[in-house]
Amino acid sequence: MSYKAFVKYICIKCGSVRTGYRVKRSVYLMVSAFTLISLIYFNNNSAMGSRARPTTGSGSKLWQLLRSLESVVGVTQIQVRDDRKRVILVTYPRSGSTFTADVIQANSDVFYIFEPLYPTLVEHTGKDLLITDNGIKKRIQRNMTSYIAEVKKVMEAFLNCDSSLFELPLHVFKSPLLKVRNDTSPLFECSDKIKEYNRTLISNCVEKYIKLCEKKKVILVKTIRYPSEILYNQMKNDPNLYVVYLMRDPRGIISSQMSNFKNFAWKNINRASKEICSLMENDIQVMEDLHNLYPDRVKLLRYESIAFDPLGGTTDIYKFLELNLTKNVTNFVKNHTQSNATSCSVGCTVRKNSKSVPYKWRVHAHFKYMQNIDRSCGNVYAKMCYVPVGNINQLKNKSFSLMKLCQKYGANI
Ligand SMILES: *[C@@H]1O[C@H](CO)[C@@H](O)[C@H](O)[C@H]1NC(C)=O
Ligand SMILES: *[C@@H]1O[C@H](CO)[C@@H](O)[C@H](O)[C@H]1NC(C)=O
Ligand SMILES: *[C@@H]1O[C@H](CO)[C@@H](O)[C@H](O)[C@H]1NC(C)=O
Ligand SMILES: *[C@@H]1O[C@H](CO)[C@@H](O)[C@H](O)[C@H]1NC(C)=O
Ligand SMILES: *[C@@H]1O[C@H](CO)[C@@H](O)[C@H](O)[C@H]1NC(C)=O
Ligand SMILES: *[C@@H]1O[C@H](CO)[C@@H](O)[C@H](O)[C@H]1NC(C)=O
Ligand SMILES: *[C@@H]1O[C@H](CO)[C@@H](O)[C@H](O)[C@H]1NC(C)=O
Ligand SMILES: *[C@@H]1O[C@H](CO)[C@@H](O)[C@H](O)[C@H]1NC(C)=O
Repeated sequence: MSYKAFVKYICIKCGSVRTGYRVKRSVYLMVSAFTLISLIYFNNNSAMGSRARPTTGSGSKLWQLLRSLESVVGVTQIQVRDDRKRVILVTYPRSGSTFTADVIQANSDVFYIFEPLYPTLVEHTGKDLLITDNGIKKRIQRNMTSYIAEVKKVMEAFLNCDSSLFELPLHVFKSPLLKVRNDTSPLFECSDKIKEYNRTLISNCVEKYIKLCEKKKVILVKTIRYPSEILYNQMKNDPNLYVVYLMRDPRGIISSQMSNFKNFAWKNINRASKEICSLMENDIQVMEDLHNLYPDRVKLLRYESIAFDPLGGTTDIYKFLELNLTKNVTNFVKNHTQSNATSCSVGCTVRKNSKSVPYKWRVHAHFKYMQNIDRSCGNVYAKMCYVPVGNINQLKNKSFSLMKLCQKYGANI
């Protein structure tokens, strides 16, 4: 990701309403250097690289690997320590998750942690948050064992907001993404001053953070590219853990990532869309299983439904999480979907008119590329009730809906 794209990725309310937050160039350079080193390492050995075609379905090598790791490192369990609700919003880059998470945190009972797994992903897999070709020439071994182990540790600590936070590595707290939301920015500010690991100094920062977090009844973590298989154990061990799975039409995700990050070339759309949709397919399978096991604790949502009916979508999510739909929340939704502010970039939720956002990609879409995505993503469409485009007129005609009712997961998914 370029510096500009990185800043765009994390900026809040960029544009006319509030000034965006800009990452210090030094922080960026540090993260980039680290990513680069990891990528070079990563590029040399991995079997998962661009030359290896991902197999589709739950039999893919990545997921077989994750499943086998699950049994190896599955000993880490989320300990139930209180009756607070813990919510994980699992989603993908450019899927409307920033808006959806902000809608949930508009309730003052909610404590919101934005992308706490970013440094873990970079540290252990050399990848950032996107599926991308850019800058990746050769591949190396990712350490998926240490990755999954750290994901579990980080999630457990943040969700429980307790002394297990003291055990996390310093890089977790120095993540610039913790700075982009108010609840976690004091933790970042404090930790960023620590140059090397020092338990006393980290403890001081974490203690202050725990005091803030302890006051809230609901802990919300938003995360993209979550290794969803680990949820089987997490949900089994924690009856107060809730999962919101937010997905979006893969054509919208891919087009939006391309216009914001140019993360691969359109000529590689076949491979890229297969890679993205096989990940999604696996996640959907896990979410279906979990929904069958815990129908009251798992919710599947489509971004388009929320964007076309923001208040309806919000009401639905609040019902699911048993949160009060306060005046503040409905005001927040109204302000952020009907505001006259000009459109803005990543991390930002202010929209001129939310109804135009989910299908904006159709204006510039090439019919041929969209057909490629349709072919790679057929299983995802079938499960989540999206509609392939039959011809270019359908693609460009925004009155032609590219989704059907999908009632198996509730009326408003
Ligand atoms: C509503 O928002 C205002 C301003 O952000 C805040 O002071 C107030 O406590 C909030 N009320 C509730 C019930 O959350
Ligand atoms: C991966 O991480 C695990 C746990 O930290 C470690 O035991 C193992 O040696 C690492 N493997 C490689 C190939 O680095
Ligand atoms: C974050 O904090 C700042 C300053 O305290 C405040 O102006 C802003 O409204 C807060 N943002 C959110 C989303 O609560
Ligand atoms: C950690 O920081 C404290 C406070 O600055 C300092 O007194 C202590 O010597 C440091 N510990 C180590 C191991 O560096
Ligand atoms: C929701 O609001 C009602 C009435 O204002 C209040 O009695 C109840 O405690 C609130 N519930 C939560 C979870 O805050
Ligand atoms: C919504 O906008 C109005 C008017 O611009 C403002 O007074 C109010 O504080 C805003 N509410 C929220 C929750 O952002
Ligand atoms: C947006 O602009 C229209 C007309 O210019 C105005 O009526 C409306 O109140 C504005 N909405 C907000 C939220 O400022
Ligand atoms: C656009 O699609 C709608 C809904 O399918 C249809 O009624 C309408 O005739 C289409 N318009 C054009 C110009 O094709």
